[in-house]
Amino acid sequence: MKLLLVCLGNICRSPMAEGALRARLQASPLAGRVQVDSAGTGDWHVGEPPDRRAIACAARHGVDISGLRARQLQAADFDRFDWVLCADEANLRDAGRLADAQGRDRLALYLPWAALRGGAIPDPYTGGQDHFEQVWTMVDDAAKSVVARLLHDADSGIIEP
Ligand code: 4NP
Repeated sequence: MKLLLVCLGNICRSPMAEGALRARLQASPLAGRVQVDSAGTGDWHVGEPPDRRAIACAARHGVDISGLRARQLQAADFDRFDWVLCADEANLRDAGRLADAQGRDRLALYLPWAALRGGAIPDPYTGGQDHFEQVWTMVDDAAKSVVARLLHDADSGIIEP
């Protein structure tokens, strides 16, 4: 199973979501069986580490995301990943422009896909620490939900060992 988390800049929401999900997977029986990556629909921050506020927020929760580097979403990602999971509707629309019909079947809004209430993960870029904390709560709740869902799928034989 390969999951790609997508936001606009790939320096705030999707790296935080990637870090939270990696950490939850690592601590579960699914360790080593699910690959997680992130990308942005925009190219402004390609090659950069996550925003220092995102790094600090993740670190407060025991997760190191400082080694991640931003990259831009590519059409080929729809062949490489089982799911392309977007932070908000604008990301969904922009990502959809890169996908063919098959790719669009792999495209979803992350929180509803994770079976959580709520739609978009709000962009914290112009906000303060509290906005980053809110994002962390959302992406960590999503990570817990995804692990539970994938564990259920693994028990059902849907995920190959
Ligand atoms: P992200 O946040 O999409 O969560 O990474 C943003 C980062 C940078 C910009 C916008 C949103 N920007 O306009 O540079």
